[in-house]
Amino acid sequence: MSVAKKEYKRVTVKSLVEMKQHDEKISMLTAYDYSMAKIVDGAGIDVILVGDSASNVMAGHETTLPITLDQMIYHASSVIRAINRALVVVDLPFGSYQSDPKEALRSAIRIMKESGAHAVKLEGGREIKESIKRILNAGIPVMGHLGLTPQSIYKFGTYTVRAKEEEEANKLKEDAKFLERAGCFAIVLEKIPATLAKEVAESVSIPVIGIGAGNGVDGQVLVLHDLLGMTHEFHPRFLRRYLNLYDEMTNAISQYVEDVKNKDFPNEEEQY
Ligand code: KIV
Repeated sequence: MSVAKKEYKRVTVKSLVEMKQHDEKISMLTAYDYSMAKIVDGAGIDVILVGDSASNVMAGHETTLPITLDQMIYHASSVIRAINRALVVVDLPFGSYQSDPKEALRSAIRIMKESGAHAVKLEGGREIKESIKRILNAGIPVMGHLGLTPQSIYKFGTYTVRAKEEEEANKLKEDAKFLERAGCFAIVLEKIPATLAKEVAESVSIPVIGIGAGNGVDGQVLVLHDLLGMTHEFHPRFLRRYLNLYDEMTNAISQYVEDVKNKDFPNEEEQY
């Protein structure tokens, strides 16, 4: 007999834990602006991540490192104005939490106060434990992020799959346990072997949300512009494209250019 899924009018950090308990997968996508967030929220997404991938997707930087706290707050405020149901989680950007726990707390407070977001996400495990604890002690929900952590790209050197070797896999498992014990409400696992991700998801009571981490976790996250096929130069194996908006938009815009050049737009009905 199938059990009816609980309807959530508003998704909270508590709802996500309940979803895991009821074996309901969690859907999560990025959004960085009002118009996109309105569509994503209206389509029924559980969690919107205002990711620091805005640095790549919105600003055209090669890495996530350049985006600032002020810029993250701007993106997050735009998203917050659009949503009715989703939980909104905001990335603490590179440089806003690594140097000391007090600065980490100040950054998290600025995000919560100035954007109205519901939670923050930080990359890393025990090496940032004091920052995580301080933010949690202030009553701010924290989502962890392990595996491929793009803010450390210059340490890794490549965007390849992480934790394939036993030593790194063991560290990741211990970090996940630490994040759970510390009081994080969820963990993102990025680009690690599916068997390891499944093992981690089964070993903790909080939801584990994967990107390039297989189907044995409690939910999935993708970058919205990748899913929509707007970023056509990016082809990781884990990405499923649901549209080819790059081509669709190019065709629409070329058509508009042609119509203007041909004096076909606007026509009589399109003027006053
Ligand atoms: O910034 C981002 O988009 C992310 C996801 C890839 C999880 O952190």
